[in-house]
Amino acid sequence: MAPTPGPSAVIDRVMNAFTGLTGAPPDGVWSAPGRVNLIGEHTDYNAGLALPIALPRRTYAAARRRDDTRFRLWSAQTQGLTEVDLATVGPGSPTGWTAYAVGVAWALTQADGAAGDRARAVLAGGGGGLDLVIDSTVPLGAGLSSSAALGCAVGAALSDLWGLDLLSSEAGRQELVTATRCAENVVAGAPTGGMDQSASLLCQEGHALLLDCQTGSTRPIPFDLPSHDLALLVVDTKAEHALVDGQYAARRASCERAAGELGVASLRDLDPRSLQIDLAKLSDPIDRARVRHVVTEIERVHESVAAMEQGDFAAVGRLFDESHASLRDDYEVSCAELDVAVEAMVSAGALGARMTGGGFGGSCIGLVPINELEAAVEAVHTAYADRGWPPAEVFTATAAGPAARDA
Ligand code: GLA
Repeated sequence: MAPTPGPSAVIDRVMNAFTGLTGAPPDGVWSAPGRVNLIGEHTDYNAGLALPIALPRRTYAAARRRDDTRFRLWSAQTQGLTEVDLATVGPGSPTGWTAYAVGVAWALTQADGAAGDRARAVLAGGGGGLDLVIDSTVPLGAGLSSSAALGCAVGAALSDLWGLDLLSSEAGRQELVTATRCAENVVAGAPTGGMDQSASLLCQEGHALLLDCQTGSTRPIPFDLPSHDLALLVVDTKAEHALVDGQYAARRASCERAAGELGVASLRDLDPRSLQIDLAKLSDPIDRARVRHVVTEIERVHESVAAMEQGDFAAVGRLFDESHASLRDDYEVSCAELDVAVEAMVSAGALGARMTGGGFGGSCIGLVPINELEAAVEAVHTAYADRGWPPAEVFTATAAGPAARDA
C-alpha cells in the first residue's frame, strides 16, 4: 500500500522550492485537502445531500505578495513557470490548472460584501498579485478533488494575504466555498456542484460532513472507523476516460430537464414516497433512470447518517453497495475498472464498496474490517493483474481537517 507522505516534509519541500525559485522565502504556506465522498453522489447539483470526508492528502501553496497584479505560478507536479495577469482573468480564461488558482482571486474580486470590497480595494491599489509555488500529495485526476484542493489552498492564501479574514469563521469559509466554486464553474468552465470545495474548506478532523446543498447547512458526523475495527480503503483506479466533462454536463442537463418536466425547482423537492408516480410522468426513459438514482441516493445519505450514528457499519456497507449499483446502472457513471475494484473489495470481505466522486474512472472506496485489509488490497491488485491493467494505487484514509495556514 502506498504510504501517505507526512505534511511537515511537504511543507519544508514547498518552502525550499519557493526560496530556490524566487530568491526569497514565502510570506506563508497554506494547504487544503482532497476529499472522498462517503455517499451522496451526483446529488449536490440537485440541491441534495452529500457526506464527504477531507483526506489527509493535501495541496500546499507557498505564497508571497507582489506589488503588481501578476500571478507567477510554479507547480512541483507540472514543472515550469506560468504567468497570468489578474486583469486578464475571467470566464473561460485562463485554461488548465492555473484557472483554479488565479480564478479564485478573480472570483473574490467579484464577491458581494466586505470580502469582495476588500479584494476590489487591493486590486484598485495596483497590487494583489502573488508568487506561488504549489506542491500536492493529492493524486491528480483521480477523482479525489485535486482541483478543488488547489483552488482552496490558493483561496486560503488570498484570504490571509489580501486581509479578507475568511478562514476564522464558518461564514467566512462559506464565502470562500462560493469563490472557489465560482472559479471552477466560471473560469475553468466545469459545471460542478460545490461539494468538493465545501469538503475542502468545511470538513472537520475525525468527522464526515453532512452537506445539505439546498440550505447550505452542514453538520459534522463523527467518523471514527478504527474504534469499530474498520478502515476506509481508497482505490485510485488510474483509469482515464475521455468525454468526462461532456458526460457530467449531460447528467446535469438530464436532471434539470426532469425537474422542469415535473414542475419542481430541483430533484430534491421530489418526495421519495411518490417516486414511482413521478417517474411514470417522465417521457424519457434515460431521464427516469437518472432521477431514480438521485432521489434514492439522497435517501441513502439520510440512512447512512442514521446508521453511522448508531454505529451500524454493516448497514452503511449495504448502502455503499446500493449506491454503487445505482451509479453503475441508473446513472451510468461507473466503468470497468471501478466495478472490478469494488467487486474485489467486497469479495475479500469489505462491508460495502462504491465509486466516489464524478465517476468515469477515478477512485472507489471500501469499508473494510481491519483484519481483512490485506486481503482486500491483494484482491484489488490480483483482479487488475489478471486483466493486464496497470496497477491501481491503494491507500487507507482517515477523516482529516480542512484548509488552513501551515507556516
Ligand atoms: C464531482 C463534482 C462534484 C460532484 C461529484 C459527484 O466531484 O465536482 O460537484 O457533483 O462529482 O457527486
